[in-house]
Amino acid sequence: MARYGRQSDLAILTNIQLLKKPLHSFNIKKTLCYNHSMYKSFYGLNENAFNITSDPAFYFESDHHKEAYAHLLYGIKHRKGILCMTGDVGTGKTTLCRILLNQIDPSIKTAFILNPNFSQIQLLQLITKDLGVIAKRNNKLDLINTLNDFLIAETSKGNNVAVIIDEAQNLLVKQLEQIRLLSNLETEKFKLLQIILVGQPELLQNLKKPSLRQLDSRIAVRYHIQPLTKEDVRHYIAHRLKVAGASSKLQFTTEAADAVFHFSKGTPRVINILCEHALLAGFVNETFTISEDIVKSAAKEALNN
Ligand SMILES: Nc1ncnc2c1ncn2[C@@H]1O[C@H](COP(=O)(O)OP(=O)(O)OP(=O)(O)O)[C@@H](O)[C@H]1O
Ligand SMILES: [Mg+2]
Repeated sequence: MARYGRQSDLAILTNIQLLKKPLHSFNIKKTLCYNHSMYKSFYGLNENAFNITSDPAFYFESDHHKEAYAHLLYGIKHRKGILCMTGDVGTGKTTLCRILLNQIDPSIKTAFILNPNFSQIQLLQLITKDLGVIAKRNNKLDLINTLNDFLIAETSKGNNVAVIIDEAQNLLVKQLEQIRLLSNLETEKFKLLQIILVGQPELLQNLKKPSLRQLDSRIAVRYHIQPLTKEDVRHYIAHRLKVAGASSKLQFTTEAADAVFHFSKGTPRVINILCEHALLAGFVNETFTISEDIVKSAAKEALNN
């Protein structure tokens, strides 16, 4: 029997025997916390394969994510001004932003605004701080002038500047209007600042409000991230297990992966929650093969399905 971390084999065996009940009758949620490190060592995982943080190390490049990335890069490089990336909850928008920030050419300076709770002046402060620009005073005029000087200086060096605003579905009309005004920073030939609005589909509805018509009409590049396909889900699961260092013995059967697709509808965050539960159930049953039944029972626990 494999050794599971630091606990004695006897203690672990006792734990496992206690947990070994028919799949439908045992409560995965209750056991999830304290068996975490045990199941990780059972499966040879260096880290949690299905964490719900947007960790770029686990990035899986589906066709949809690839296309979204290409659209953003195109819009930034061609100085399109305002771009918009949407996608349903948990489809990988923030993950993609982090990938973009990590991979983008250093000649493109970036600022990333995660928290949409900002006043007019705070937005300017956040952008300048992230770009590493220091204004002499913290008033609006000074901040705008400093930002403008920075943008002109970068442009004259052949550089470009992009600001990504995540969770943009939560922005108020006056904040969105402020963003539009920032996109007015331009030369005769092109936009000095590229602004990427990232958010859930409500963002698109908000942009349809009559008061935001001007902003909406200025969005030059749009992309909506679709959920993963059935084929993607199979590869996504295998990919995350591999990155986490899982033992090659550990496998989701094709039927199990297809069940994950069925219950999650291809949404990565839901896939992660489901697979995490399925792995724990697999561990409790001391199996390296995650079957369709295990996934079904995990879906009952994790998603009330
Ligand atoms: N392409 C991907 N590769 C690997 N993991 C992904 C990918 N897309 C999403 N995920 C995973 O799914 C989960 C949700 O992703 P993320 O937080 O990026 O979604 P989101 O669209 O920003 O969600 P929200 O609408 O709540 O802001 C994270 O655990 C993330 O690691
Ligand atoms: Mg997000």
